Amino acid sequence: MTEAALSNDLPFPHRHLLGMQSLSRGDIERILDLSEGYVDFNRKGGPRRDALSGRTQINLFFENSTRTLTSFELAGKRLGADVINMNTEVSSTKKGETLIDTAMTLNAMHPDILVVRHPDSGAVALLSQKVDCAVVNAGDGKHEHPTQALLDALTIRRRLNRLEGLTVAICGDVAHSRVARSNIHLLNTMGARVRVIAPPTLLPTAVAQLGVEAYTDMRAGLEDVDVVMMLRLQRERMSGAFLPSVREYYHYYGLDHEKLACAKPDALIMHPGPMNRGVEIDTDVADDIHRSVIREQVEMGVAVRMAVLQLLTPQQGNG
Ligand code: CP
Repeated sequence: MTEAALSNDLPFPHRHLLGMQSLSRGDIERILDLSEGYVDFNRKGGPRRDALSGRTQINLFFENSTRTLTSFELAGKRLGADVINMNTEVSSTKKGETLIDTAMTLNAMHPDILVVRHPDSGAVALLSQKVDCAVVNAGDGKHEHPTQALLDALTIRRRLNRLEGLTVAICGDVAHSRVARSNIHLLNTMGARVRVIAPPTLLPTAVAQLGVEAYTDMRAGLEDVDVVMMLRLQRERMSGAFLPSVREYYHYYGLDHEKLACAKPDALIMHPGPMNRGVEIDTDVADDIHRSVIREQVEMGVAVRMAVLQLLTPQQGNG
């Protein structure tokens, strides 16, 4: 790894990262290329860099998170930022303060970057209009989770050497999934072919407009795909009954070795986490050391978030 691989001389043409729809193919390639350098950097375990030295990053999560919150914290610290994880459970939002008032309060403390997760679609974009710093969407409702799509793309690109021309199946609760939406935008932009596979009740209403092929039969949808991306049932975003039973869902849509046999023999198995074993994925498939890249996705998350933080703070991005 060379220092040049981690440098950031060219301006990045975006102030915030709110979704994948606003990123061009060149923007995505730039983030992935810089992330590659950070994969090597993280594996080597050297001293922290100073690209964000003197910068303040506030992580503001109104929803639970293990992977995204921890990796954004690690990413900021490995770049030398002062990182604050705001505990929204004990914040003044519990006393009735609105999201916008909270954002403007934090803005008055002059952070350089806010990383925000919120249960409402569009909340992070709204917040970004009220602050002076860069804002990263760490997941808003069922809208977008852009850094998840970027880390998924990095994982695929490293394993299969390309994104263009691949066929990727996104399976499960597509209707409530911000991960699915961000991945669909990214994969379409990069020239991959995207299939979504779900029961009719868990397909988005305007699925045809997303530029995907929709399947309700898992085996038909998995035929000859290069990548199988499984999704959790997002019960926290469901209102009403979408499934007869979990047992029936697993029978028809749970990924086991028998259904996986429809995909290409070397197809990658992916899951953004958290997984519900025995619901959307069989435990043997999830832990298949030859096919599953689920742990690698987590590793790529730190590298991608380092790249994103660096690119969105260009004034000190050459560190
Ligand atoms: N994939 C993902 O967003 O995981 P967390 O909810 O644990 O952050």
